[in-house]
Parts: sequence; structure tokens; C-alpha cells
Amino acid sequence: MAHPLKLHVVTFGCQMNKLDSEVAAGHLVEAGYVATDSSPEADVILINTCSVRQHAEDKVWSLLGTLRARKQQRPGLVIGVIGCMAQKEREHIRERMPHVDLVCGPMELDRLPALVEEVRQRHGPVLAVGEGHVGHLPRVVARRPNRFQAFVAIMRGCDNYCAYCVVPTVRGREESRPLAEVAAEVEALVADGVVEVTLLGQNVNSYGRTLGGRGNDTRSLLCEAPERAVDGKRLLVSFPLLLRRLDPIAGLERLRFVTSHPKDATDELFRAMAELPRVCPYLHLPAQSGSNRVLRDMNRRYTREHYLERIARLRETVPGVEVAGDFIVGFPGETDAEFEETVDLVRRVEYQNCFVFKYSPREGTKAAELPDDVPWATKQERNRRLLAVQKDIMRRRNAAMVGRVLDVLVEGISPRDPANLAGRSRANHIVAFPGDGALAGRTVAVSITDSTPLTLLGTLERQE
Ligand code: SAH
Ligand code: SF4
Ligand code: F3S
Repeated sequence: MAHPLKLHVVTFGCQMNKLDSEVAAGHLVEAGYVATDSSPEADVILINTCSVRQHAEDKVWSLLGTLRARKQQRPGLVIGVIGCMAQKEREHIRERMPHVDLVCGPMELDRLPALVEEVRQRHGPVLAVGEGHVGHLPRVVARRPNRFQAFVAIMRGCDNYCAYCVVPTVRGREESRPLAEVAAEVEALVADGVVEVTLLGQNVNSYGRTLGGRGNDTRSLLCEAPERAVDGKRLLVSFPLLLRRLDPIAGLERLRFVTSHPKDATDELFRAMAELPRVCPYLHLPAQSGSNRVLRDMNRRYTREHYLERIARLRETVPGVEVAGDFIVGFPGETDAEFEETVDLVRRVEYQNCFVFKYSPREGTKAAELPDDVPWATKQERNRRLLAVQKDIMRRRNAAMVGRVLDVLVEGISPRDPANLAGRSRANHIVAFPGDGALAGRTVAVSITDSTPLTLLGTLERQE
């Protein structure tokens, strides 16, 4: 009997991409492939790509370049480029890298197992970059990288069209998955040992907008969320409603979600976060800039005042909540004074964590029509400065946590320090402490004894 074919998947980009890779690989493994971490051994190599910044694309071009020689030596090797860059670059991928066999965009991933087979049978290239349908591969519950944590996509695509962003172009229009389907997936994962679920979407707060109540059992939802009743009978599916539906699932300990958009961060969402015991007090709410001129040109549809008001309301409503943010520095026309407004916003908000990106023009977006006029060195300097400001905040905030006792979900041996375990608090602090690797997947109480800007250090208090 022929040996089973080996599959190697390389993933760039966001958590949505990681989940797509996991789901696609799960199906190929069900079909008889064996997953391998070793690229040289693989018979099929899939590269799941990101287009959000030029740097992400450059990494893929360079990886593809290194695979050219291998393909020459082993013509039977299948090389597939999937995900956002497949959609953006389409035919151009094979024009530049003719050794690529398969190009499959994020909206056609449900066909991926069949497409890989087609390449192998035909020994010819396959291009699948249609936009008409957003196919969902059903999840293979048993095949996931971690037995106690899972991501669940609740929607696809994005309709926000932030001026700098390529995501709506490559991932298509926003589409929510039916509530009953999401609930069934979460229930199946929890029944299989998952205790922490992170709901994924480019803008989870607009969940349900494309559903209009379709396909859901409105009576049972009425019982669970009477405040959403419209005319006493119809319900509008919304993100807070989804949280209310998932929160009571027995065995689920933590419910998280990313990403939220400030224009849709409603009081109703904050109330759900405060009231629901499984929903973690952590909100990733990207501001992108602290300047109203920049925010307007970014098409973000809120002001810095609105953003700060939302943060104040969140903190008032959800005790102990932590906030994370994303910022872009060097957006077209960004002056020193406008950048200082961003620094000021970061100081005022006091984020737990900030992700800072240098603006990268993306072809086809509105902002790409503006001159990319902030010099690279200035972008770099602003990036460094904002991170330095944030680091001071994190140092101070983490130091203030010393003496507290936190419930930590143990993720395993710390990747930075094998003498310690690492896990996260409900509010998403990273906590490291000495302990037995067998605790992975358990929630334990950790007494915080020391801190660095990124990590809290502690000792095991007791086991729950
Ligand atoms: N939908 C999510 C994530 C989008 S991509 C959200 O709206 O928050 C993740 C982050 O990449 C964005 O928040 C933004 O800060 C950054 N980003 C997106 N496009 C970019 C670009 N062209 N240049 C630099 N950073 C970008
Ligand atoms: Fe991009 Fe804006 Fe959509 Fe986020 S909300 S994916 S930044 S267009
Ligand atoms: Fe994610 Fe990058 Fe695509 S951030 S949605 S993989 S462009």
C-alpha cells in the first residue's frame, strides 16, 4: 500500500486565517493525509496568506521563491497558495511563481479538499478565486491544535471599508453564520473538552445584521433574552443575543471575542459583558488613531470623543475590564500634531496591550489613492515612540497587580521560560508561575508576586 501523503500547512495573518487553516487541514486529514511540521517531508504544502500589509505579502513571495528548487527536484509536490493574498493576487501568483499548483481564495475554502485532489489527478494548475459564495467547511471538532481552547468563526467578510484596509476586498461582503449553527458548534466543542471559546469576526458587533432573524428558533430565544423581543414576538439576532445564547452552555468556562468596532460598541454589549458570567472582561477595541482628521479620512465613522466616551462607559459598566487597541502610524498626511493626539489617546485610555502598525498602502483601497507621504523613518520613529509610551503604561499597570489573586487558565509550559507554566487571567493578563505541566487546561488561582511590562509572575495559590 502506498504511504499516506503528508500535508504541511504554513499560516500567516490573523486568527481567522489560523482557524481556516485548522479547518481545511482537518478535512484533508479526514481524507487520509497525515499532518507534518516538516516542510521538506511534505507531499502537499499549503500556504495560507495575509495581505493586510506589504510586509506580510513579502514573506510569502520569499517563501515561494525558496520552494522553486524543491518543486524542480520533486515535480509531484503540490504547492498551494490559499487565503487573502490568493484572492488579491490571483493569476499574478502563477505568473511570478509558475511552480505554484493551486491558488484558492478565502471564499472558496470549502472546495479546498476537492481542489487539492483535482491538482493531483490532473497534474495541472487550479485557480479558485470566485466571489459569489462564501462556503463554510463544517468544522472537524476532533482535529484542533489544543484540546481546551477553540476559535469559532461567527461571521465572514467585512462591510466597513476602512480606507486603508484590504480585508473587505479579499474576504468579501460581511455574512453572519446562523445563530443555531454557531451554538451547535460551540456545544460540540465544549462536549469534546473545550473550556474557552473565542468568537471570531472582523467586526463581531455587527453579528446578525445579515440574518434578520432567519433560521432561528425565535421562541427559545425569546425565553432566553426577552429584552430583545420586538412586538412581543419577533427577535432581531444581534451579537449580545448570541452571547446570551452561548453563555449558559454547561462546561464552558470562558467566552471571548475579537474584534469589535468602536462605532458598534453599544451599551447593550457592555451590559451583556457585565451580566454574563462566562464572558471575559476584555475588549479589543481598535482606535487606529487619536486624530479626528485622520479618523475621518480612514472612514472609521467615529471621533476620538466618541471613542473615549465608549471606553469610559465600558469601564463604568464592566468591573475590572481590560482594553486592547490597534493603531496605524503614518497614515497619509499624518502630521506630528496629529500623531501627538494618538499618543495622548493612548495615555488616556491606558490599554492593557496595543498593536501598532506602520501604514502600508494596499492597492484597490481608498487610501491608496492618497499620497503615502509620511517618510518611512518617521513611521518607524512614531511606531517606536507609541510602543515606548505603551510600555510605560503596561509596566505601571502590571506592577499594580502585585498582591492580587487571579484565576488563570493554564495554557501549558511557558514558551519563554520552560521552568514556568503560562496562562491567562479572565481579563487576559499573561501570567507565569512554577507548576506541573499536567495542569494545562485547568483553571487555578495564582497569587501575583512580581511583574514585567508584558507578564505577571506568581505562585500557585490553590487548585479549583
Ligand atoms: N477587523 C479587524 C482587524 C483588521 S486587520 C479590525 O477592524 O480591527 C488588523 C489591524 O491591522 C487593523 O486593526 C489595523 O490596525 C491594521 N491594518 C489594517 N490595514 C492596514 C494597512 N494598510 N497598513 C497598516 N496597518 C493596517
Ligand atoms: Fe478592515 Fe475596517 Fe473591516 Fe477591520 S473593520 S477588517 S480594519 S475594513
Ligand atoms: Fe486576516 Fe490578513 Fe486576511 S489580517 S483577514 S489574513 S488580510
